[in-house]
Amino acid sequence: MTTSLLCARMMKLSLAGGLLVGAFVSQAQTVDVAAAEALAKSSSCTKCHSVDKKKDGPSFKETAGKYKGKADAESTLTKQITTGPKIKIDGVEEEHQIVKTKDAGAIKNLVQYILTR
Ligand code: HEC
Repeated sequence: MTTSLLCARMMKLSLAGGLLVGAFVSQAQTVDVAAAEALAKSSSCTKCHSVDKKKDGPSFKETAGKYKGKADAESTLTKQITTGPKIKIDGVEEEHQIVKTKDAGAIKNLVQYILTR
């Protein structure tokens, strides 16, 4: 009697542990693609970037490749799209487009989206 109760308890515990780990893993990997693409479009990013074709700016695939395995990838990209650094397009200097949201979660999602193309 006591043993089976203990057993049920332990099963419950390990189940909860599994769910917790699962939640963490999916949080790290899940990118809301639709939200990222909508934000890229509404912020005019798609005027100069596409997923796999070079336009005025590098394709997101090229950028993902360039930053693969780099620890500072996320912070570098976040800076690029929130601070408007100087860029050159056909020799003409201008400020890089700033993403049209202040929602840190949405910005992070867009950065993750770019890095996982
Ligand atoms: C007017 C054209 C234009 C628009 C609009 C634009 N970009 Fe860019 N973007 C560029 C160019 C050109 C570069 C390359 C700058 C360089 O290499 O110095 C660049 C660079 C980048 C990079 C960094 C690539 C790298 O290798 O470091 C990212 C990420 C990026 N853009 C994302 C975005 C996002 C997100 C938006 C929308 C908020 C956006 N861009 C809007 C032209 C544009």
